[in-house]
Amino acid sequence: MINVAIDGPAGAGKSTVAKAVARELGLIYLDTGAMYRATAYTALKAGIDVTDEAKVKPMLEDMCMDIRFEDGAQQIYVNDFNTTPFLREHYMSKAASDISALPSVRYKMVDLQRKFAAERDVVLDGRDIGTFVLPDANCKIFMTATPEERATRRFKELEEKGQSVDFDVLLADIKQRDYNDSHREVAPLKQAEDAVLLDTTKMSVDEVIAAVVSRVKACMQPETQEDVKKNETSPSKRQLKREARLKKYYLPPKRHGFYRFLRVFLRPLQAALWPIKLVGGERAEGLEGRGAIFICNHFSKVDTFLPCFKLFKKEAHILAKSELFESAIIGGFLHSLGAIPVKRGEADIDSVKCVLRLLKDGKHLMIFPEGTRNTEGTREMAEFKSGTARFAIKTKSLIVPMMYYAPPKLFRRNYLFVGQPFELDEFYGERSQEAMNKATEKVREKMDEVGSELNSYVASLKNKKNKEGKK
Ligand code: DC
Repeated sequence: MINVAIDGPAGAGKSTVAKAVARELGLIYLDTGAMYRATAYTALKAGIDVTDEAKVKPMLEDMCMDIRFEDGAQQIYVNDFNTTPFLREHYMSKAASDISALPSVRYKMVDLQRKFAAERDVVLDGRDIGTFVLPDANCKIFMTATPEERATRRFKELEEKGQSVDFDVLLADIKQRDYNDSHREVAPLKQAEDAVLLDTTKMSVDEVIAAVVSRVKACMQPETQEDVKKNETSPSKRQLKREARLKKYYLPPKRHGFYRFLRVFLRPLQAALWPIKLVGGERAEGLEGRGAIFICNHFSKVDTFLPCFKLFKKEAHILAKSELFESAIIGGFLHSLGAIPVKRGEADIDSVKCVLRLLKDGKHLMIFPEGTRNTEGTREMAEFKSGTARFAIKTKSLIVPMMYYAPPKLFRRNYLFVGQPFELDEFYGERSQEAMNKATEKVREKMDEVGSELNSYVASLKNKKNKEGKK
């Protein structure tokens, strides 16, 4: 399968170019922006606020989107109604941008887009194709132009259609959409690391088309032995295989016997190699059957596993980067240990679903709110990601804050401090970004409290030692 991803901000000329390139190379073009527009149109027609996830979500459940090609032109049918003629109205752009920021909308569209691309040779254009929808696309291009140039192009296009719009309003709209599209939480607009940047500000449409066609052809022609090898196992096939394996790892482990054996076998090993002194461990007792998210600072690779053996009574669940599951042996081992794969740098829908199911089932999960390792540990915690708050609010789970005093060291006593569990109950039912930010602030404050409790605990230990030394 050939997958070409063209991303970029509004008005960069992606759709004109993508259409022409698809025609020239015999590929099928899918305008993903039109899918968000059709969703926004359906919401507006039903009188639903396009920024209100609680109202949009039930609408999505009943929404059947069908992409058809009539006389070679893409038509988007929603529940058998052709929305296409209504999608290019000026007001639809803002509505589409707003609705596209809702996670439930994105998940639905991305599912449809991936299915579409898995069965055909395609060119997709949008905002997140190279980064999120088709991360293994054969060819990725990021097209851009200055906001002024994009507004001028749009202005001329509308003028030709006989519509008059104020240029400054157009420019302000474009800037606003750039901001919305690149600041939303799920799959924001951004250039994929392996995408080629094409600034079209000073290029004619024909020049852009020629540049993209030549780039796509170059991507299709392996030049080196290494490329030939890569092509032998085509990326989409490899990806499909990997995805199929990953899907298995998003389900609960079947072999509980092996799981128990591992834990029984590994626990003494952990105790011998990295002895842990748990302070305040009683605070995390009696939580069986109650969904709980254990959060912790993250110094090193080993600290991920230690609480699983020390603290969790039955099942231990952690998130592990999906690359680790690429090997069937390591993947199977991690799966048996209860690890959930997560694709980093993107919103991994399967991972999110898996975590939510687990917490709703009353299981325990450990995550690092900083999202990555931080050797500064407690001294300088990085900004918290909003995932913890989102999961805790959605599943009404407890949050158990924990903190290592220092990076766990081999054969030394390592301190792990458990703080008072808390809930984000004042945010239950909330979905807005603002509420998530506030809830994340609260998580951070609680973690800071644990930090000061831990510091006083260690200070009192040192005092005691000093006194004993003097005696
Ligand atoms: O490309 P367009 O102007 O038709 O897109 C309409 C809106 O849809 C745009 O503001 C952002 C959103 N969009 C998106 O979020 N992801 C895509 N792949 C395509 C469009």
